Amino acid sequence: MLLFCHTLAVAFLQIFVLSANWTLAKNINFYNVRPPLDPTPFPNSFKCFTCDDAVDNYNCNRWAEDKWCPKNTQYCLTVHLFTSYGKSTSVTKKCATRDECHFVGCRHHRDTGYTECVSCCEGMICNVEIPTNHTNAVFAVMHAWRMSHGSRRTVNVPLLASVLAVVLL
Ligand SMILES: *[C@@H]1O[C@H](CO)[C@@H](O)[C@H](O)[C@H]1NC(C)=O
Repeated sequence: MLLFCHTLAVAFLQIFVLSANWTLAKNINFYNVRPPLDPTPFPNSFKCFTCDDAVDNYNCNRWAEDKWCPKNTQYCLTVHLFTSYGKSTSVTKKCATRDECHFVGCRHHRDTGYTECVSCCEGMICNVEIPTNHTNAVFAVMHAWRMSHGSRRTVNVPLLASVLAVVLL
């Protein structure tokens, strides 16, 4: 009997936790999404929001896969298709090569009335937003990101120099 009560209590708790998760899921701040501290597969590796033909940006980001981009890619690409009223009909996000990022910008398809905007960005899960016009359908390369990676190397140079000095003296 005690065991039954315990099982019941656990079941109630699980339902409570599940429903709490469900309500929380309605307002996720995707900017706060931090990659887990799993080991990086190779230097300068990064992740992108990745989805194929999601109905809108929320559903893309919400269910996006969490995996490292392949070694031959350097950027995150986003393709956004929307109606003349600005309603999203398709969102696709993926890791991309520099060549794939040559096609950024917005194109209006007169036959369907749809507009397709493509943007690229550089950096860890940088493709949170979707492009909607010529201002944001761009190839955004973040120099700060590269610099912050580079600075880690320069920090070690004085250390290396002092270690060498001690050894040589
Ligand atoms: C482009 O879209 C962004 C975000 O939707 C908006 O804030 C901005 O005003 C738009 N720019 C132009 C030129 O329409």
